[in-house]
Amino acid sequence: MIDKINQYLEQIKSFESTDQEEIEQFRIKYLGRKGLLNKLFAEFKDVPKEDKPEVGKKINELKHEARNKIEKLSKQSKSAGKENKIDLTAPARPYEAGSRHPISLTRKEIIEIFNRVGFTISEGPEMEDDWHVFTALNFPEEHPARDMQDTFFIQRSPDVVLRTHTSSVQVRVMKDSQPPIRTISPGRVFRNEAISARAHCIFHQVEGLYIDENISFSDLKQILMYFAKEMFGEDTKIRFRPSYFPFTEPSAEMDISCTLCGGKGCNVCKYTGFLEILGCGMVDPNVLKNSDIDSSKYSGYAFGMGIERIAQLKYNVNDLRLYFENDVRFLDQFKAKF
Ligand code: DAH
Repeated sequence: MIDKINQYLEQIKSFESTDQEEIEQFRIKYLGRKGLLNKLFAEFKDVPKEDKPEVGKKINELKHEARNKIEKLSKQSKSAGKENKIDLTAPARPYEAGSRHPISLTRKEIIEIFNRVGFTISEGPEMEDDWHVFTALNFPEEHPARDMQDTFFIQRSPDVVLRTHTSSVQVRVMKDSQPPIRTISPGRVFRNEAISARAHCIFHQVEGLYIDENISFSDLKQILMYFAKEMFGEDTKIRFRPSYFPFTEPSAEMDISCTLCGGKGCNVCKYTGFLEILGCGMVDPNVLKNSDIDSSKYSGYAFGMGIERIAQLKYNVNDLRLYFENDVRFLDQFKAKF
């Protein structure tokens, strides 16, 4: 009997498994109701009296060995189970990449186009004094754009406003530096408008300014033609219409041939073949004077465009509100572009 018990002991010692089912089978085999240990206890009755102490001790040893082994193995198998939950060989989950906002994309593209021909970037504050937004830009005192209808006032006398256009940055740049000045100023602007598909109270503009000796209207035309072709394609045509802005003389508005029909006429261009994209002109000598630039020596041109408008034509977006809603279904469409 001692031999049999020693054999069992060997088997217990050599048993290894991390499989819970296998360990359970092992437990039943030794410690179960009809297991080997109970069998040994039953046989113990027939062991000669003088052998009983030794055999009893051996059976107890066997019982402890079996219990310890089971405890040890099931602990190991549980923690092994936990490790198994992380499959280090599994392919990584693809993670959602964001997208650039169409306004950022357009702004970036406009900046790149003007950078290529030597324009720097300048910025000014969104909260401005009346002087930079209106007075220095030659707005007559009673001009309707100063009206509460258009302008958000932060403070009255002295007036502090949210800039209604980025032309205010022109003044700051000219005040801070001397010609030659060749810069564009992208930024946010604010107007007190009811929000609709065609208007918003917050939007974006890019202002352009070039001041040097002997700058003429043909320089302006040339740079804007270059811009239109870079932005909308080589076949784009431009057209100038006389206009009025207090800070430029002469002033013009520029149209480009319709990006959809190419000039044939469609409902986007309202059958005119052209789309308006910006205002421009030769900087009024009064503005130069107000900004400490010698108007007898220097002249220059300026232009200003709405980024939303350019983006709308580029990406065919027909409702301005989409730009501000941050609906991922809208934004997702720009994922591939950077
Ligand atoms: N500031 C004008 C606006 O907000 C746009 C503009 C027109 C800017 C003519 C200019 C310019 O620099 O010369 O509508």
